[in-house]
Parts: sequence; structure tokens; C-alpha cells
Amino acid sequence: MYFKARTHNCGELREQHIGEKVVLNGWVSTVRDLGGVMFLEIRDRYGITQAVFEPHINAAAHHIAKQARSEFVVNIEGTVRRRPEGMDNPQLATGYIDVLADNITVLNQAKTPPFSIKDELDAHEDLRLKYRYLDLRRPEMQENLILRHKMAMLARKFFDGHGFIEVETPVLMKSTPEGARDFLVPSRLHKGRFYALPQSPQTYKQLLMVAGMDRYFQIVKCFRDEDLRADRQLEFTQIDVEMSFVNQEDILTIMEGLVYQFFKEIKGIDIQLPLKRLSYEEAMEKYGSDKPDLRFGLEMISLNKIFTGSGFRVFKDAVDKSGVITGLLAPGCGDYTRNQLDVLTDFAKKLGAGGLIWIRVKEEGLESPTMKFFSEEEKQGMIKELGAKPGDLILILTGSKTKTLTQMGTLRLEMARRLDLIKPDAAPNLLWVLDFPLFEWDDETQRYYAMHHPFTSPKIEDIPFMESDPGKVHARAYDLVLNGNEIAGGSIRIHNKELQQQMFKALGLTPEEAQVKFGFLMNAFEYGAPPHGGIAFGFDRLAMLMAGKQSIREVIAFPKTASGMSLMDESPSDVDEHQLKELHIKIR
Ligand code: AMO
Repeated sequence: MYFKARTHNCGELREQHIGEKVVLNGWVSTVRDLGGVMFLEIRDRYGITQAVFEPHINAAAHHIAKQARSEFVVNIEGTVRRRPEGMDNPQLATGYIDVLADNITVLNQAKTPPFSIKDELDAHEDLRLKYRYLDLRRPEMQENLILRHKMAMLARKFFDGHGFIEVETPVLMKSTPEGARDFLVPSRLHKGRFYALPQSPQTYKQLLMVAGMDRYFQIVKCFRDEDLRADRQLEFTQIDVEMSFVNQEDILTIMEGLVYQFFKEIKGIDIQLPLKRLSYEEAMEKYGSDKPDLRFGLEMISLNKIFTGSGFRVFKDAVDKSGVITGLLAPGCGDYTRNQLDVLTDFAKKLGAGGLIWIRVKEEGLESPTMKFFSEEEKQGMIKELGAKPGDLILILTGSKTKTLTQMGTLRLEMARRLDLIKPDAAPNLLWVLDFPLFEWDDETQRYYAMHHPFTSPKIEDIPFMESDPGKVHARAYDLVLNGNEIAGGSIRIHNKELQQQMFKALGLTPEEAQVKFGFLMNAFEYGAPPHGGIAFGFDRLAMLMAGKQSIREVIAFPKTASGMSLMDESPSDVDEHQLKELHIKIR
């Protein structure tokens, strides 16, 4: 079907266009029939314009307009006019004019959509995902994708301006697990062999440094077969960066520049540089998280010192077993009812805590079932340490260190939510978390894992402990946190073969296993690898936070559900028997 190309888009016409003949193309957003005069609002990515059909001016066009329904695709010709007195719509950029139509062509009809194409939608997300092309027609979703595009353009401009080059790296690669589970792709040509999809381009970007590229970046898809959450997808995008001949400070400085640009250009906010920094140790002690939300206080306080000689068995155990006793003051919550406290206790238990000790602070003293176990000195010490006042509530958790601090960190967030401490218009809170441990002990498998990934350099001064006391070794790693979300992570890398071998050994790999899995990288290190380091931003997460959304699915055009399904095309799906045969695969 031929149709007249638009002269303007649907967000463009203003009073200056009054009197002009125009052609608009778009979707019918709303139809209003005022017993004679018809109003069609026409929508495209750029906005909405109202077209008016008067039967006595153009009966034929009016007749067609009468048959138009929501989401019909139309071509409208007419003349721009000032809206009649009292008909202005200041909500719309085009709200002072309308187009008096003398022609309308229906370019395509549409079935009634399963939900209305408008913002503030209450349709179930599954329905939105099934009909994603309709969901994406909504202005809100279009804005999210436009925002994401702007951020990508900003990043490219920023890196280009700082001498970085974008290099594409393979999507089919060797399986070199980085922490998550790999997605595997069976090879047709090499029976029984598999490619893996990259969890990140980590090894490639390091090889690009060995290759002398000096400054690399890439906006790149990564794939991890892990359980999904609101801020995790099976495939997600990183802004991936690597630099040669740099130390940690150089990388943090460059990245702060990028973050500054994002906030300046997207939000019009001048963030204060340099960003705040916290050590991992301090972040865990005070906030019970390696991605602390510092938009509010509620600092956790260690009560170990106060209870060193405690007669209370639970506390004594914790102190003896180098565990922690951590306290949190909930201001003004001293009147929580027994029922409310039971709910909090259940909350803590669900996190894996043995129990929650609560203490109401009253004018006449402390009130709690555990009070009988505390000496007067301990009570006073606790009040002083926590700065407790009558009317407050003290919460205490105790147990092994990391586990207990993490539980209290989650309880801290819960209390902030209950106390409504996170205001929607709060200034963005950014910080670096530094000095991570290099290794993390896993009780279940009884071995150490790399906290970031196995290519992260230990602090030079800690190298002697790599074998004797791995838990003591710090990494030259850093994470960037925004409002309690980890938005980027990176490290200075190991760049010599011996240290890399030592690292693999600490992770329980034999030299042979290390050679089979990572030989290609270690071999490259023997040909003049420069000192290097880098970082990767979670682009979806950053876009989600910039857009003020709660889920990264809102800023991804075609995301998967929490169970990894694409509801629109119904993947993962069955494949033909002959496809499996070609791939030498049998389904058991
Ligand atoms: P890391 O694994 O920390 O580092 O990933 C970097 C950032 O990517 C985001 N991210 C995710 N976003 C959505 N869905 C996921 N499943 C997901 N997993 C991670 C997070 C995270 O901060 N190669 C290293 C980087 C480096 O060392 O340079 C890496 O991938 O925001």
C-alpha cells in the first residue's frame, strides 16, 4: 500500500505550525466520538497529536475515522489549527494545536490489545512480556530504551575521548568458568566438544592488553546460567574496560569521570568527586553488606568488646569462636508490640539467624526477655555504645562473622524500609568498596573460591600468605556501589605466569588442570604482558537505577522471566530430532 510520507512526527507540531498542511503517520492512541465530531489521538515514539474529524467539513474522512480503533496504524492529512477555546491540553507538548483532518488512510488494522498502551499500567508482567512489542509501544518503555541508548552513546563518546578503542570479542569461547555456571554450545564439527558463551570477556580483554591495545572498552553481552532476580538476567550487558600500565587509582579516577558524565548528562546532577571509599571490612562491620546503601545511617555496631566476659552462653560462644555480636539501634521503635517483634524475629530466622535479641529502651531501663543474662555494666556499655535513648529499640544478632553481619545488614535494610528512611528524591549515593579479601571460604565444598575472579591480583604485601593463610590475603579489587546496588566491579590483574599459577593452586587446581583450562592465558603472560587492570559496569543495572526502576527487565527490550523463559517466542523450546543428531546430542 502506498501512503504519503509524514511531514512531521507526532511530537513535533506547535503553534508556529498553525495553518500548515501536514501529514502524520502513527498509531491510534485514543478515539473519542463527541456525537458528530471525532477526535483521534495519534501516537508515535515522539509524542501524541490530536486529529479532528468534522462530518460537515469532510464527510468521507469522518466516516473512515469512525471505524478506527485503538492501535490501528493510520496516515492522516490535514491542517494544523489552534485548539478551540478551553480545549488545550497542557499535559501534551502538542496540546495547544490539533490537526483538522481532510484525509485518513488506515495502513493497518489491529486486534484489541491485551492491555492498554499507556503508562501506569496494571497488567501482569507476564502478559507484558508475552506481548512485549505492545508493551514497548508504551511511552514509559520507549523512554527507558531511549535513556539506555543515550547512556551507551555517552559511554562510547567518553571512552573514545580518553583514547580507548572498542574491540569485539568472541561469543563462542572456551569454557573457563568465572564463578557462575556456563552456557554451553555443542559443536557440530567437533563431536562431543562445546563452546561456552562468555560470562564476561575477562580473558580476552587481558589478552588485548598483552596485544598492546593499551585501552580497551566494549559494550558487550555476557551470559551466566544463574538464578535470576530483579537485578539479574541470564544475558546482560556490561560496559567492559581494561587498561595497561595503570594502578588502582588510575582506574578509579577514569571511572569516576564516566559516572560523573552519566549523572551530569542524564540527570543534570553534579556528583561530588572523588567518591567516598570504604574498605570491605568496614562495609561489612557497619552495614553488613559489600554493597552498602548509605542513603541512610542505621550503622551496625560491634558489641563484642562489651560482652567479652559475658555470662550469657550465646554471647560467650560467639566471642570464644571468633564470631560477632552485632547491634542495631532502631530509633523510636521502642513501642514495637510483641507481635511486631515476632515478625522481625521470623524475618531474621528466615535469613538463617538462630534468633533475634530485642531490647526495648524505656525511661525506667531496658526491657527484654534476655535482660536477666546481662550485668549492669554490660547494659550501660551497650546503651552507650549504641547511643540508645528511651523510646528506641535495640536489635542484636550473634554468630559466625560474615553470616551474622550479612543477616544484620539485611535486617538493617528492612528497618530502613519500615522507618521509611529511603526517600525517593534522595541524592544518589555512590561509593567504592575496596580491599576485598582475595578468597572466600565455602563451608559446603570446604575450599576457597576467588571472591572476584581468579585473575585478580593479591595485594603485593599479602602474597607471602597465599599458601599459609589464604583467608588473610587482600585483593587489589574494587566495586562501585550506587544506592545499595553493585553497579561495577574490577581489579588489577595478575600479569605473570608464576603468580597466576600460585593463584590457581590456592583455588585447588592442579598445575595440569590449570594448564588445560587457562594455559592460553598463562602462555600469553610469557610474551611480555604489561601490568594491567580493569572494571566492568553492569549496564542494565545502571540504566535501571538511572531510570528509577525496580527491575532490570524494565530497561531491557526483550528480557527473560525469573525462570529464564522468553514468553514472547517461548524459548527455551524443543528442537528437531535432526538438529540434535547433527550436534551428537541425545536427550535422556
Ligand atoms: P562482575 O562479575 O562483578 O565482574 O560483573 C560486573 C558487573 O556486571 C553486573 N552483573 C549483572 N547484571 C545483570 N545480570 C547478571 N546476571 C549480572 N552479573 C553481574 C553487576 C556487576 O558489578 N570480568 C569482571 C569485571 C572485571 O574484573 O573487569 C566481571 O564480569 O553490576
